[in-house]
Amino acid sequence: MTAECTWRRTHTCGELRAEHVGQVVTLNGWVSARRDHGGIYFVDLRDRYGLTQIVLTTSVAEGIKLSPEDCLSVRGAVVSRDAANVNTDRPTGEIEIAVSSVETLSSAKLPPFEIIDDLDTAVETRLQYRFLDLRRPTMQAKLMHRSRFIGAMRKAWLARDFCEIETPVLTKATPEGARDYLVPSRVHAGKFYALPQSPQIFKQILMVSGMDRYFQVARCFRDEDLRADRQPEFTQLDMEMSFVEEDDVFAVWEGVMVDTFRDAMGVEVEAPFPRMPWAEAMARFGSDKPDIRFGMELIDVAAWAKECEFKVFSGAIEAGGRVMGLVIEGGAEMTRKEINALEEVAKTYGAKGLAWWKSAEGGGAGPLARFCADDAAPRLMEILGAKEGDLCLFAAGNQSLVWRILGELRVHLGKKLDLVGEGQDWRFLWVTRFPMFERDAESGSWTSLHHPFTAPQDWDLAGDVGTLESRAYDLVLNGWELGSGSIRIHRQDVQSRIFEILGISPEDQRNKFGFLLDALAYGAPPHGGFAMGLDRIVALTLGLDSIRDVVAFPKTASAADAMCDAPSAVEAFQLAEIHVASTAPAPAAAAQDDA
Ligand code: AMO
Ligand code: AMP
Repeated sequence: MTAECTWRRTHTCGELRAEHVGQVVTLNGWVSARRDHGGIYFVDLRDRYGLTQIVLTTSVAEGIKLSPEDCLSVRGAVVSRDAANVNTDRPTGEIEIAVSSVETLSSAKLPPFEIIDDLDTAVETRLQYRFLDLRRPTMQAKLMHRSRFIGAMRKAWLARDFCEIETPVLTKATPEGARDYLVPSRVHAGKFYALPQSPQIFKQILMVSGMDRYFQVARCFRDEDLRADRQPEFTQLDMEMSFVEEDDVFAVWEGVMVDTFRDAMGVEVEAPFPRMPWAEAMARFGSDKPDIRFGMELIDVAAWAKECEFKVFSGAIEAGGRVMGLVIEGGAEMTRKEINALEEVAKTYGAKGLAWWKSAEGGGAGPLARFCADDAAPRLMEILGAKEGDLCLFAAGNQSLVWRILGELRVHLGKKLDLVGEGQDWRFLWVTRFPMFERDAESGSWTSLHHPFTAPQDWDLAGDVGTLESRAYDLVLNGWELGSGSIRIHRQDVQSRIFEILGISPEDQRNKFGFLLDALAYGAPPHGGFAMGLDRIVALTLGLDSIRDVVAFPKTASAADAMCDAPSAVEAFQLAEIHVASTAPAPAAAAQDDA
């Protein structure tokens, strides 16, 4: 039998209040801040639950370093603080611990940065020392919020009779538009597993199996360029259900979101969420993920532009393109410099220029003013719904470019001009009826806008491939795409036809998707589903711009793990075992090349 443990805590560092005064307690935690007051040390002891002030005399602390981030156990009486010393900023601020004994459980080297919330340290350093970064209360609060949020969601799905089922991680490619991460097989020489980009095909197979309602907190892997809202591995709340149409999927998600926000955050979300066809979202907002918390919608000015003498505009219309505008109410006060800055923003999205006009009946000001003589100005103002004192911005070019430029500019202006009003915290929106296919710019062939398992609006696929609409939908929150889904193809003939349109030969269809085509031939029920990016909803509900802070161990911009230094080289024998030879230059040669 081991000796009795001398350090086991009786309470956490966030727990003690005035009512505990007089009790003798043991606390475990880290040295957060230390103040020396001639013969007495005041130390803030920190753990996940909070901070408690402990007081040590020099004789009690004899031989104990009390260095920042040392891990301690202290024993002592809970005493109340003088009225003057009560700290109303923290829940334990009415008391302190008069320490009678202290033990260093583990001492700490000097940390590379301070363990404080308001930290101004390079993100690379934070990621390299993630174990210390995650000691900061703000980071711990984020991870706890994430856990609470996912827990609440899981409860909401279970309450609706959804069954949680795990699907494999070592599997066959599931196309979601990114590159696959491949895992070589040792047993099957020359063959590879793919890590799933999503559980898409498995969840459809589960519907064919009759599981009826499935969900999973699923890890997905995609080898794609990283951005603030993307990680190479991320988590989805993935679900699928049988015998449903779009409205059934929307209703169940709306219920789950209402329950989750209430449970995890005490927030009441308004449901049902509004719905908007993709074509309308693009025309009004220039985006398939419109932030509907503010207006400033795009306005088509083709009727005016085609007759005006400004060749950039009339030329764009003649070439089959578009001219569209945005109106900034009261924007005429903007300086030339501010307007130039907006033009620079537009250029980063591919604009050649950004024509502008300070609207006025008499002709107004700006590059467009000289084309606004006589009744041209009032006509343009009427089309735009602009008043004197407004600033109007215009983009001319092909349809998708104009949407992108003005859509992005609108989002930029929404932030810059603070257009989101009070009480507009959570504006969900379903965007529906996406196009079925888009042309790949390089190869010229058709690709799926969502994924190849998405049902078309019309099972007969009649008409021009480029104009077909799908039964795909996205859920958008405050301008972020939270998740996507669709009603699926449950008919083998239609699935084969879609593969054919995508240029997948019958042989390739068998090799890649034979098991799905087989399953669809055995009484597949009509089904549909959806997957929400959990990292994104968790980040958004915390008001963060990047998902990195809500992932415990995220990857850097180059898809590396800075803490454990992954990916890393492996031994030659390991490669031999999995029948793999590397074509990468040897490390020494690579270093020489760099030099
Ligand atoms: P989709 O590919 O749109 O659909 O993914 C669904 C949601 O997952 C999140 N997401 C990501 N989050 C972080 N990092 C990434 N790299 C990343 N990629 C995607 C987004 C996205 O909206 N199987 C389909 C869903 C379905 O049809 O049911 C799918 O995966 O929030
Ligand atoms: P220019 O006559 O080329 O000097 O252009 C006059 C104005 O039109 C400038 O403010 C340009 O920024 C703007 N402009 C140029 N090309 C475009 C375009 N494709 N769309 C909108 N504005 C443009």
